Amino acid sequence: MEVRIDHVIISVSSGDITAWKGDLIVNASNSGLYGGGGVDGALHRAGGPQIAAECAAIRQKQGGVMPGEAALTSAGRLPNLGIIHTVGPIWKGGGAGETATLARCYISSLDLACARGARSIAFPNISTGIYNFPRQLACETALSAVVNYVRGAEPDKLPLNNITFICFEQENARLYGETLKTYI
Ligand code: APR
Repeated sequence: MEVRIDHVIISVSSGDITAWKGDLIVNASNSGLYGGGGVDGALHRAGGPQIAAECAAIRQKQGGVMPGEAALTSAGRLPNLGIIHTVGPIWKGGGAGETATLARCYISSLDLACARGARSIAFPNISTGIYNFPRQLACETALSAVVNYVRGAEPDKLPLNNITFICFEQENARLYGETLKTYI
């Protein structure tokens, strides 16, 4: 399932994000950038100890990453250009600005990707695992943040031409596919 906006293709697929071969992979990390479980654990395992070492250097330099923000490391032994570590909100019922923070994760990651001159980027379904964000709302928030970002950018200043959402769970793949269709 994909949608084209100007020169950018936004797509949805199922699977393991560690096997994706494009430029930048986004990780759903934590404020301390300590490797955890879920997609974070999978990326640290696949990329090797170099990623944790670079996360420790970021922690030392700036004390970590706030929810909604993002930081870039290499991809270790993975073939990608790098990994963007963003920190999703922990779902606390919806009254603590969780939706706005989740949207900022996508925007901060796209800003970093553009600054790096990346052509392609893959997102997991940030916050919908251990951080317990409701799937449907997370999906609507993610897609609207990304689509609005692309629509609002000047085409010749946007190096990205491929933005993909990689869904590990079938339920998310279905939700993302159906919601993306509404942008055709
Ligand atoms: N590829 C793609 N998606 C994955 C993978 C994978 N290999 N493994 C898990 N996922 C999916 C989950 O199914 C979920 O939809 O990533 C989404 C986000 O889930 P989590 O990884 O649990 O991330 P999050 O909910 O943002 O919680 C972040 O968990 O691992 C810790 O250090 C991390 O403390 C942080 C917290």
